[in-house]
Amino acid sequence: MERRPCLSRRHALLLPTSAVGVGTLAACGPQEEGSDNPEPLRADDGSVPLDEVPENASTMVNFGGQQPFVLLVRGAGDDLTAYSGYCTHNGCALSQLQDELDCPCHGSKFDADTGEVLAGPATRHLPQIDVVVEDGAVRRVR
Ligand code: FES
Repeated sequence: MERRPCLSRRHALLLPTSAVGVGTLAACGPQEEGSDNPEPLRADDGSVPLDEVPENASTMVNFGGQQPFVLLVRGAGDDLTAYSGYCTHNGCALSQLQDELDCPCHGSKFDADTGEVLAGPATRHLPQIDVVVEDGAVRRVR
């Protein structure tokens, strides 16, 4: 099953107009027909190959372990920022819906590029998570 990450608003603005055409937008969307909620990328051994993390996009990754969900925001190359995948209101796991992260518990929404709160009741943006890129793989720093 092919994962088709969404091009974020911020990253779409950084691309030349020709690169953000109908084909790009058509490729952006849910993993499965009828679903707007792509499955997180799995990293069961604690790391995910960098080439599986799409450039100029935000990707939810399940690193396994106790706090497995991390949002990776990748620009070009090794430009990578990571945020917690858990709601700052009461800790529920977030799910990605296009360029937003939605909390299923009480409805908070977060920007999938910046981790900023878009809608409450959460009031704090998502904290950054330390990740490293080593030997072509992204690994969460504990
Ligand atoms: Fe997310 Fe309450 S835990 S809105």
